[in-house]
Amino acid sequence: MLKTLKETVFRLRPQIPTETKIGIILGTGLGELVHSITDKIEIPYEIIPHFPVSTVEGHSGKLIVGQLGGKPVLAMQGRFHFYEGYDMKQVTYPIRVMQLLGFQYLFVSNAAGGMNGSFQVGDIMLIEDHINLFPEHPLRGKNEKEFGTRFPDMSEPYDKQLRNLAISIANKHNIKLQRGIYVGTQGPTFETPAEYHFFKIIGGDAVGMSTVPEVIVARHGGLKVLAFSVITDLGVLGKIVEVSHEEVQEAAKTVQPKMALIMEEIIKQL
Ligand code: HPA
Repeated sequence: MLKTLKETVFRLRPQIPTETKIGIILGTGLGELVHSITDKIEIPYEIIPHFPVSTVEGHSGKLIVGQLGGKPVLAMQGRFHFYEGYDMKQVTYPIRVMQLLGFQYLFVSNAAGGMNGSFQVGDIMLIEDHINLFPEHPLRGKNEKEFGTRFPDMSEPYDKQLRNLAISIANKHNIKLQRGIYVGTQGPTFETPAEYHFFKIIGGDAVGMSTVPEVIVARHGGLKVLAFSVITDLGVLGKIVEVSHEEVQEAAKTVQPKMALIMEEIIKQL
């Protein structure tokens, strides 16, 4: 694993300025942020040694290297979901690459179903904590000491200072920012009403199919993390309607400018 990673990093290093400390996973809701990145170079996943490639729909992702909010950043357009069949090492491979490149920050977004009764479709939720319900752990197996400790602390998975910064920026720009706990599940089914209810009972505010593996690996590697969910549908008793992937995308589109603004302002202030 370390050897393959080093080969990946060897290939990428010349194209990524050494001052780059910020990695962004452009999940649902953050796609538009790509337009705010300037001086871009794009690196398709296919040409990166050992990088997982997308097998679905022919369009795989790319890394975007450029400037955002006056800082050098590396953004991932296209992430790897466990439900697509990748194993956890593949899902989190890009995070290890970021770690070996010396990054300090990981910003993530995703789409999620809201269980919290005060949430509405189109809300942005700042993730304060998560519950990992994935059936496989990304750190299972031999621990590479170079990457981090065997038993990583998870007392503050989402950095408090970054969260406070996000809250103050949202306040300043009059953007409603919900806060809550993200439940990470494998998917690919959306939840049954009983499952939404169960996730609410165990303390969840929103549920989705990503983010948790990447965040765990980022924390293992010492990166500070900030993550947002776009609430694209509701798992609230009485408000549960049929959900489709298209509706999820549609709901996410409307919040893009707000998410992009928050993210760019945070980066400016780092
Ligand atoms: N459940 C799981 N993942 C999701 C949902 C949901 O309701 N909405 C968007 N991603």
